[in-house]
Amino acid sequence: MALWGGRFSGGPDPLFTQLNDSLGFDYRLAREDIEGSIAYARATHRAGVLSAAELQQLLSALEGLLAAVIADPRLPLAPTGQHHEDIHSWVEARLIEKVGQLGKKLHTGRSRNDQVATDLRLWTRRAIDERLTQLAHTRAALLTFAQAHTSTILPGYTHLQRAQPVLVAHWALAYEAMLSRDSARLRDARARTNVCPLGSGALAGTAYAIDREALAKDLGFARASENSLDAVSDRDFVIETLAALSTLAMHLSRLGEDLVLYGSGEFAFFEYDDAFSSGSSLMPQKKNPDAAELLRGKSGRIVGSLVSLLTTLKGLPLAYNKDLQEDKEPLFDAMHQASLCLQATARIFAGVRVDAARCERAAKGGYSNATDLADYLVSKGVPFRDAHEQAGRSVRAAIEAGKPLDELPLALLREHAPTCDNDVFPALSLAAGFARREVPGGTGPKAVHAALQAAHARLNAEGT
Ligand code: ARG
Repeated sequence: MALWGGRFSGGPDPLFTQLNDSLGFDYRLAREDIEGSIAYARATHRAGVLSAAELQQLLSALEGLLAAVIADPRLPLAPTGQHHEDIHSWVEARLIEKVGQLGKKLHTGRSRNDQVATDLRLWTRRAIDERLTQLAHTRAALLTFAQAHTSTILPGYTHLQRAQPVLVAHWALAYEAMLSRDSARLRDARARTNVCPLGSGALAGTAYAIDREALAKDLGFARASENSLDAVSDRDFVIETLAALSTLAMHLSRLGEDLVLYGSGEFAFFEYDDAFSSGSSLMPQKKNPDAAELLRGKSGRIVGSLVSLLTTLKGLPLAYNKDLQEDKEPLFDAMHQASLCLQATARIFAGVRVDAARCERAAKGGYSNATDLADYLVSKGVPFRDAHEQAGRSVRAAIEAGKPLDELPLALLREHAPTCDNDVFPALSLAAGFARREVPGGTGPKAVHAALQAAHARLNAEGT
């Protein structure tokens, strides 16, 4: 059913129909379109457009339809024998089927322009809430993992070279910190999403006496939008949401890369559950970290969604333009992929096995206690620059001797760092290195314990 028949003599070209139709993807807005229509029916009744009896009839038809699409979200894709351009025309056709001519009254003073903007805000708000819940679960999984590894030692890297040892819990808490900022960013985006465009009409504001604030409240929005031209063409809320999802996906891609590395035969720090790995069709010995690789890989398409919509919006004149129909697929896809990645991350962490002995051996190797030697020399009054130089020369001597620093004879150490005494050896132990890093935010065991408590408290306070 075409929504604009009156002015047209001929039908559309089938190719135009293919180009123009959006039902194939915007059917996902069915629930929100009906919820918006229910609130709009009440608002038009309050405005004196619909009688009480008409309102009741419309509401019961809309509520029946709402239940049907909640039960079967793909219902709008089922053949009806009619053509429907988009979800708005599908809902209207179903309504007319149920209540006849009265169904045609609902669109009074409403345009698909304020309607689709409202639907998309309702959809985005709901999707953000679902992602926030998943983020909370994923963060809880990271905290559980951290809790189990508050004394497991891992080499910390800079430039992917072993730098200084850290606790596995400290490593996990770093990712939890990233995800906590992602939760905050999604909440920010939600606040600007939560504004109601309905009542803006096509672009200039509706000509009916709609109480826009009451309508906004009815739909759970914080308020009505301010400017009708802006309201029908504003998609900033989608941009902000996609930007928050892109940052989240970027964080998960970094996590994915750490998991890929740590699970490789060369590192062999972590091992993953078979359920999240796959084999090779050719090489029987292989167990590939596909899930972690996809955490790394999905960021590409999620960032692509953000760039796609920014590019669509750039240079658009006011107000509504059909280009805006291109906002939906990137958003739907990014939300779906983010959902899969968040759920997978939580599940992967539930099955990570840590080879603590191997991690510790690796942390001890690579001369990652060279800074501790420099710090020791500083404690003996050597200026840091000289201490750094002496520690560097000691490392070179140790490499030549094929030994760790703390296994060099004192006499040899003294050739390069003359202030060294017997108390240098305990100072070079892993335990001493950790004990010196009890600064807030550091990897000392007490500091990590406090960080873990703080992260738990922060997550609980968010209440999702
Ligand atoms: N399918 C359209 C969209 O997604 C709905 C709005 C159409 N409005 C219009 N004036 N043609 O943007």
